[in-house]
Amino acid sequence: MEAISKNFFLYLSNNKLLDRLAKRFGTRFGADKIVGGETFSQAIPLIQQLNQEGLQVTVDHLGEFVNCESEAKERAQECIHTIQSIAQYQLQSEVSLKLTSLGLDISRELVYENMENILQEAEKHGVTVTIDMEDSSRCEATLEIYKTMKAKYSNLGTVIQSYLYRSCGDLDELDSYDPYLRLVKGAYKESGKVAFPEKKMVDDNLKQMIEKNLLNGNYTAIASHDDAIIEFTKNLVKKHNIPTDRYEFQMLYGMRNQTQADLVKEGYNVRVYLPYGEDWYGYFMRRLAERPANIAFALKGIFSK
Ligand code: FDA
Repeated sequence: MEAISKNFFLYLSNNKLLDRLAKRFGTRFGADKIVGGETFSQAIPLIQQLNQEGLQVTVDHLGEFVNCESEAKERAQECIHTIQSIAQYQLQSEVSLKLTSLGLDISRELVYENMENILQEAEKHGVTVTIDMEDSSRCEATLEIYKTMKAKYSNLGTVIQSYLYRSCGDLDELDSYDPYLRLVKGAYKESGKVAFPEKKMVDDNLKQMIEKNLLNGNYTAIASHDDAIIEFTKNLVKKHNIPTDRYEFQMLYGMRNQTQADLVKEGYNVRVYLPYGEDWYGYFMRRLAERPANIAFALKGIFSK
């Protein structure tokens, strides 16, 4: 049953008609519980609140399916505006972005141009930028762009997904770039040709990757809501005496709020991934696919508005 519901919501996440409809309705249907608003201005008080609670933030201007050059440039501009606002309001926040929103499906040159503009501004204000990882067909291009830009800009991170067979090799390949890496299980629908079919294999691979990356001395963001992964990391850093400034826990906004607060109380660095924007639909559907319990608050959202 869980597999059927997962596939159903992942299928819906790619439905462009529903995506267009969703934009008309705004962040209703429970999306406002996990999305920080439709504009960055709406997200600012939330970020300030999270910062006061001892949580760092990374903001993501939601957007997928960008296939025209002017829109990709607008997305880059929004990102630059977000970086300037982070500096202006002195928010403890980084920025996350998706390369398809900057034109990855249009041309590589366009992505490089947009990334240059964004990273120059980010460097000016000391803001770190992390490139999210999308589906496996874009992984190679994303890593190539990451490596090229990382050679020029130090304040750049990316994401490696433990469900892909290739990922441990990617960690080795990235080791010489002094990478800032967020390690996740992976959120897209992938075939058994490229990804582990069993959840246990994905979980075990994530543990192996966390150990490898931390022991390689690379900054590691452990992005998971899974208690087993969090416990594994706590034991690992204790065993190897790894200082807290070499890693952080990351969770999505609205998920496991108590666990986030508990980790802060225990002295760990915790960062909340806060998405905002009108394009909340694909993100929201992937969260429903991950966790059937999320459907309950989506239904509550529909009937309470
Ligand atoms: P998983 O879904 O495997 O659940 C394991 C257990 O954790 C559950 O059985 C439950 O006990 C507990 N749990 C999980 N979610 C919970 C919740 N909401 N409330 C209570 N308990 C919960 N993916 C991607 O492909 N590319 C990317 O760039 C990113 N970026 C990213 C950033 C950040 C900050 C996070 C946290 C995640 C991502 N992801 C991602 C998503 C990631 O790949 C993955 O799909 C989700 O985090 C779900 O996997 P988990 O490890 O969190 O738990």
